[in-house]
Amino acid sequence: MSWYKDWFSSEGYLKVYSHRDDVEAEILAELIMKNINLNNDASVLDMACGAGRHSIALAKRGFKVTAVDLSERLLIEARKNSQIAGVEINYMLSDIREFNSEYKFDLALNLFTSIGYFDEDNENFSVIKKAYDLLKKNGYFVLDYFNKDYLVKNLVPTSVISVNGDRIVQNRSIKGNRVVKNITIAKNSQVNEFYESVRLFSFDELSETLSKTGFKIEKVLGDFKGNIFDKTISSRIIFIAKK
Ligand SMILES: C[S@@+](CC[C@H](N)C(=O)[O-])C[C@H]1O[C@@H](n2cnc3c(N)ncnc32)[C@H](O)[C@@H]1O
Repeated sequence: MSWYKDWFSSEGYLKVYSHRDDVEAEILAELIMKNINLNNDASVLDMACGAGRHSIALAKRGFKVTAVDLSERLLIEARKNSQIAGVEINYMLSDIREFNSEYKFDLALNLFTSIGYFDEDNENFSVIKKAYDLLKKNGYFVLDYFNKDYLVKNLVPTSVISVNGDRIVQNRSIKGNRVVKNITIAKNSQVNEFYESVRLFSFDELSETLSKTGFKIEKVLGDFKGNIFDKTISSRIIFIAKK
């Protein structure tokens, strides 16, 4: 089984990334709103929505949101969270590469490093092509990826945290053109091990691919505060691209 199917379907994922929460999603949603002009009735496609935090933030603003993910567990969580938030979202269980819709969207999102999991670059980039195909003319694509240069320079080899009685150890390393993380989650005598392996795309690789796909890059931000991207100090690369 591909590591990402295993890991994102596990109970552990939301524990390890518990700090990637609704508050952070609100900040990013607000940043997107500041940088893109959308009509009140605009439609949004959240590609790899996870537990729905950005989908919910945008649905709360009145947009029609369709959200796709291949993790059944995360979609169950997303539906629960949407109900609590009082918003309706069209959740779809699908591999984003195979997702099709006759309806085209005003805004497509791929947030918090949700490509780069596949071995082959053309597989990873097929998600960007998919965003292009599913957008209306003049529609927007927001791609949020880690900044490779920052990540490599600031890599923390090992970290240990405790979340609700679970001891979570994360070991990180660079292997060729990927960042690899081994995750151990231990509670009492039960130990579960997981693995992440994500392609280290450079700014140039991502921007060239967006341009080749047909997108016009309008702006590149470097963090959720909205600072302009700077290769040496930015933690994120947030492309605002237009079809
Ligand atoms: C790092 S999480 C980010 C989730 C969400 N965007 C967020 O910010 O909370 C990556 C997500 O991508 C989903 N995913 C990975 N590969 C996918 C694929 N091929 N098709 C659809 N979803 C995928 C995973 O299930 C997971 O929910």
